[in-house]
Amino acid sequence: MADHHEMTKTTPKEFAMATLGGLFAPGLAIFLIVMLVVSIQSRLSGQEAEAAADKAVRERIKPFGVSVAIDPNVPRVEMTGEQVYNEVCTNCHGSGALGSPKYKDAGAWGKRIAQGWPVLLDHALNGFNKMPARGGEPDLSDLEVARAVAFMTNAAGGKFEPVLKKEVEPTPAELARGKVVYAENCASCHDTGTTGAQKLTDAKAWEPLLKQGKDYLYTAAIKGTFGGPAKGGNDKLSDADTRLAVDYMVDQARASVAKAAKPAEKKAAAK
Ligand code: HEC
Ligand code: HEC
Repeated sequence: MADHHEMTKTTPKEFAMATLGGLFAPGLAIFLIVMLVVSIQSRLSGQEAEAAADKAVRERIKPFGVSVAIDPNVPRVEMTGEQVYNEVCTNCHGSGALGSPKYKDAGAWGKRIAQGWPVLLDHALNGFNKMPARGGEPDLSDLEVARAVAFMTNAAGGKFEPVLKKEVEPTPAELARGKVVYAENCASCHDTGTTGAQKLTDAKAWEPLLKQGKDYLYTAAIKGTFGGPAKGGNDKLSDADTRLAVDYMVDQARASVAKAAKPAEKKAAAK
């Protein structure tokens, strides 16, 4: 009896083992749950980082002329013309140092502006006498330099868009052909504005489109990478004819934008 009693008596050591064993299982479970949560969290933040990188890339490949919002979460966003001017160009052009045309000095800029956009852009990108290439900042992108040139020259009476390539203007014969193609394939929507097509007389709709440049519009019209149909829905239309129709549309739209701008200018002058 006494022996039997002895055998079932729990020693302090056994008691400790049992307690630890009892704690071990829930402890392991808690540990595994914590690990699971941590791994889900890190996977989620990985996805967030990917999304941010994705957004940054999309910001950078945006078509030219679209103003880029400055978002501190996006690593490298192209600067606006004003930002580039303030960071780099003002070092000389702010004061007229080294004989540079001074900011807002229409007299100093007049003849230079008259050279036209391609020359101004070329001199800013590649340097000209004491004007260093890219203002001495090789890290500036072509577009950033172009924006800064437009910013400075427009402050002195220029009217430039920061486009990188000189756009080839259609000849009168090409425009006439474009008008015919347009009438046959595009007018049904773009004369009336059906289905949300931009009417050629709608300056507000065309102003931002024109800023995208013709390459964008050609691609949009040929591939239909917008709300409208590719080639106006006529798959027998050649790429070349579609481009001519776009040339005609751009020509008409520019006229609408210019017409809409005039009363606004008059109002501004009257003030
Ligand atoms: C180190 C001084 C310096 C800096 C910085 C500088 N420029 Fe200039 N820039 C000049 C000088 C000097 C000229 C006049 C060159 C001449 O006509 O001989 C000039 C001329 C120009 C012209 C007119 C070229 C022409 O054909 O008449 C443009 C456009 C221009 N700069 C753009 C820029 C832009 C954009 C930046 C900033 C990214 C910039 N510059 C930064 C010194 C500078
Ligand atoms: C069936 C109607 C329709 C026809 C026909 C049509 N379009 Fe459009 N087009 C649209 C619509 C709708 C949009 C506007 C999409 C949007 O909201 O951006 C558009 C937009 C455009 C744009 C601007 C691109 C953009 O980003 O919005 C161009 C350029 C264009 N069309 C060219 C053409 C040309 C060239 C033709 C003839 C060959 C043509 N379209 C025929 C409906 C049409």
